[in-house]
Amino acid sequence: MYMDLLRRCLTRELFDDEDFVFTPARGLTWKGRAIRRALGLAKHPRIVRLIHNPQTLEDKREGVGWPRSAEVMCGSRRLEFLQKTLYAIEQERVDGDFFEGGCWRGGAVILMLAALRAARGHQQRLVWAADSFEGYPAPTENSSEDDKELYEHAAYFRIGRSEFEQNVERYGVHGSELRVLEGYFDRSLPAAPIERLALIRVDIDGYEGVRAILENLYPKLSPGGFVVIDDYLAVGARRAVDEYIAKHQLKNAMHMIPQKQAKGMYFRRER
Ligand SMILES: C[S@@+](CC[C@H](N)C(=O)[O-])C[C@H]1O[C@@H](n2cnc3c(N)ncnc32)[C@H](O)[C@@H]1O
Repeated sequence: MYMDLLRRCLTRELFDDEDFVFTPARGLTWKGRAIRRALGLAKHPRIVRLIHNPQTLEDKREGVGWPRSAEVMCGSRRLEFLQKTLYAIEQERVDGDFFEGGCWRGGAVILMLAALRAARGHQQRLVWAADSFEGYPAPTENSSEDDKELYEHAAYFRIGRSEFEQNVERYGVHGSELRVLEGYFDRSLPAAPIERLALIRVDIDGYEGVRAILENLYPKLSPGGFVVIDDYLAVGARRAVDEYIAKHQLKNAMHMIPQKQAKGMYFRRER
């Protein structure tokens, strides 16, 4: 019950007064896009704030839109799936720590830290929270149009490390299990002192970032461990995952995360 309540708080499913969502340009009609261009506002972060729609309860469950204050944007169905993953890891005694990249405002990391306390598990685990804390990296020649658009909205994704840490503290789960890796993944992960992982949660859309996470961390995943790609249908993320699977000839069965409109995917390392 504690975990369910926590999930509903993190997604704001419980609260009606937090019902605005910033609509990214991607969600605009052609007319909205034209007005935005005509006004020369395409790169202006504040225009995102001017265009808002009420976020329905169903949006909060599905993880549709960009919430104003919720600590997590993936919605409660994908968060519920994360909860089940953590239970499976504990029950099946899969060895290793939990990792999330990027952790943004901290919602999924808060859920992981809470699960460790609630489970009083059989082993000491750490939670690794990784983020640039500066938003998405500048596009490169490998970037898709979607990657470029995310960079345009850098202001929305630029959550400082102190805001992340304050959120963890506000929920009362701050403790010695938390490790923060600050910086873009291609720099922060190669030297990260991570030994073994039971869960790699990837929650970014961009090609380079997803590739860096898989290249550096998959070799550290325990047998039976989970890789969860929260935004597998994003062009860049999908390309990076598919390339990695093909390159390393992974035979793991891939599954979509259950929700009404599938977005995320997961697979487990063979035992
Ligand atoms: C979609 S948000 C994550 C949402 C969050 N996990 C949740 O469940 O609500 C993506 C985050 O990844 C970070 N990020 C994106 N690309 C990155 C990269 N290459 N290296 C480090 N952080 C990155 C951004 O700063 C942002 O905080």
